[in-house]
This record gives sequence, C-alpha cells and structure tokens, in this order.
Amino acid sequence: MSRKKVTILDLQRKKENGRPITMLTAYDFTGAQLVDKAEIDVILVGDSLGMVVLGYDSTVPVTMAEMLHHCRAVARGAQFALTVGDMPFLSYQTDLVEAVRNAGLLLKEGRMDSVKLEGGREMVLTIEAIIRAGMPVMGHIGLTPQSQSKLGGYKVQGKTAVSAHNLLQDALALEAAGCFSIVLEAVPEPVATAISQRLTIPTLGIGAGAGCDGQVLVYHDLLGLFDRLQPRFVKEYANLGQTILNAFVAYRDDVADGRFPAAEHTYPMSEAEEAEFRRMIAE
Ligand code: KIV
Repeated sequence: MSRKKVTILDLQRKKENGRPITMLTAYDFTGAQLVDKAEIDVILVGDSLGMVVLGYDSTVPVTMAEMLHHCRAVARGAQFALTVGDMPFLSYQTDLVEAVRNAGLLLKEGRMDSVKLEGGREMVLTIEAIIRAGMPVMGHIGLTPQSQSKLGGYKVQGKTAVSAHNLLQDALALEAAGCFSIVLEAVPEPVATAISQRLTIPTLGIGAGAGCDGQVLVYHDLLGLFDRLQPRFVKEYANLGQTILNAFVAYRDDVADGRFPAAEHTYPMSEAEEAEFRRMIAE
C-alpha cells in the first residue's frame, strides 16, 4: 500500500481504534528525513531546539525567526508525517492578533501543518482565535517548560488531587476550544490516563505513562545526544553522543598519524599531466 501523508483525522482514528500515536521532535532536514523514514506519525519542531540545538539554558529565549528557520528545514525533510511547529515564548501570550499572525507564519513561512502552544484555560481565547483563522492547534499542559520559572523548575505537575483536577479542567477546556490533540508533560500516570479517557481528542504523553493515546520524545534525548538534563521519563534508544565522539577522536588520530586521507580518498591525475605540471612549475 502506498504511504499517505498523516492528517489530524488519522490521529483521531488511531485514538478511536486504540492504536498508539507516535511523535518525535526534529529540528533539521536530515533529522526530519530519518524520523519520516521510520514512519513516525507526527514531527514536532519543538522549542526544545533552544536547549538541544542552540544551547540556551531554557526554551524562553527562542524567537520566531529561529523557529521559522528550523521549521522550514524540517518541512523540506518531512514528506509524510504531520508536522507541528511550536509557538515560542511571547509569540502568543501578548495579544490575539499577534498570536494569530505568528501561528500563521509557522504555517505560511515555516511550512508546518499545525501549531502547538503551552497553557490551559487561560489560553482558550487564543486557541479559538487561531483555529478561527483556519489553523489546527495542539495544546500542551502539565509541565509547560516556557513557564518553568513560575512552576519552580522542571517539576512533575498534578501530583495532588486538586492540581490533578485542575489539569483535567484545563484539558477539557482545550478540547472544547477545538484543539486536535494535547501534549501531557510530566504528569502522574493515573492522572494522564484519566484525562485521556475523558477526552475525545488524542493525548500525547511525555513522562505521562502508558495510558495516553500516544507518546512523544525529544530527538536528542532518545538518541543520547544531550546530557544537560536527563528526565526520568526518557528512554535512550542509542548513545549517539558517545558514537559521534569516538568518530571525531578516530578522525583526529588518523589525521595526526597520517592515516587519513588514504589513496582512495584522493583524486588521481594522469602521469603525463602530472609530469607536464611539474615541468611548468619548475620553470
Ligand atoms: O519543545 C518540545 O520539544 C516539546 C515536547 C517536549 C513535547 O514541547
């Protein structure tokens, strides 16, 4: 069967049929091509790129220009996955017009299929305005890294009955506002499971357990490429950081010891041309 582009209706169908949705972040052309080849349903160009690609110490400094730059690269590499562009901090919190314009830029210039933004009930008007303008919105509640300072750090959310109930109210409000799915980040499993069962739209968990309708991980975390933060919920499927480091050290040693480049890495010249060349430079 020929492969088709994933749509938000496919995600909805997966939830209805109890088939888990897969989502990964990607930040560039090559990464997006690989994620797409693996037949992952959704590629998120997360503002986590601020930390894992740009080296900021949080996602707060990420700008629209940076997001657009990476979204365009991912869009060129992602043929089949549904793409989601993350709205960076202050691109949607100040006013509705600004929010709609910035969401539009992620679709129009960033070539994304949809956008994601962080926040619960306080974001309902913003989400409704973006959807009214014709754009699909993914919500994000629980640990919302753009407000980690307000939350007192990268902490699990919804650990008390009251805060868990608040999260459920947020999730229901986002669904009513028209979100096509919601990321649940760092939420206890029973809470995420209850939310997933109450919602008709799919939930995508990151540190939220197996009761969500799908899972999302950050590319660099899954590949062992980022060691500044190592949340408990990450499963490292490869240690590419070490593999890459080993390759760089082997290259350095090969160059230093004269093993690289070898004959097969160099371009030959005919003997006659070489002899003529030598004669010319000797003159
Ligand atoms: O920015 C990001 O990568 C995210 C995921 C952690 C869901 O928001």
